[in-house]
Amino acid sequence: MINTEMERIETILNELLVLSKPQKTNYKQKNITTILHHVTTLLKTQTNLHNIEITERIDSNLPPIYCDENQLKQVFINFLKNSIEAMDSGGRIHIEVSKMETSMLLVRFKDEGPGIPDHVLKRIGEPFFTTKENGTGLGIMICKQIIENHRGNMHIESGPLGTIVEVELPIF
Ligand SMILES: Nc1ncnc2c1ncn2[C@@H]1O[C@H](COP(=O)(O)OP(=O)(O)OP(=O)(O)O)[C@@H](O)[C@H]1O
Ligand SMILES: [Mg+2]
Repeated sequence: MINTEMERIETILNELLVLSKPQKTNYKQKNITTILHHVTTLLKTQTNLHNIEITERIDSNLPPIYCDENQLKQVFINFLKNSIEAMDSGGRIHIEVSKMETSMLLVRFKDEGPGIPDHVLKRIGEPFFTTKENGTGLGIMICKQIIENHRGNMHIESGPLGTIVEVELPIF
C-alpha cells in the first residue's frame, strides 16, 4: 500500500517537474502520420488487451509540420490512453487527420466510451482533476500546455455515444 502510494507520488512529481522545468524544446519539420503510427504501435499491447481496435483515415500528402515530436507523442498518448481507459468492454477508436483550409492540420480522436458528463467536462484540464482511482488528473492539462506551445487549439466534444477530441496544429 505504502509502496503503491509512493510510486503514485513519484509519478505526479515527475510529471510536475517536466511541466515546471523550462524544457529544452526540439522543434523540427516532422511527418504527423509517422508520429501517430509510433504512438499507436506503442499502445498496441494496451489496445489488444482491452479489445480495442484503432482505425484511421489519414489524408495522403499531408505537409510536414513544425513541431516537437516527443511533445506531440505525449499529447497523442494522453488522449488515446483516456479513450482506452474509457472503453472497458472494448470497441473502436477512430483517428482522422486532414488538412484544413487554413494552414492547420486537424487530428481527431473518436472513441466509443460512455462519454463525459457535463460536470466533468467543465472541469477537464484542471490540474489534479480526475474521476479515476489511479488517475493523476494531469493528462489533459499537459496536452493543453503542449498544444498551446505549438500555437494550436484543442476541443473536446462528448455525448452518450462517445468522445471526440480535436487538435488543430499549425503547419509552420
Ligand atoms: N475519452 C474520455 N472518455 C471519458 N472520460 C474522459 C475521457 N477523457 C478524459 N475523461 C475524463 O476526464 C478526466 C481528466 O482526464 P485527464 O487525462 O486529465 O486525467 P486522468 O486520465 O484522470 O489521469 P491521468 O491522465 O493523469 O492518468 C478523467 O478522469 C475522465 O473522467
Ligand atoms: Mg488521462
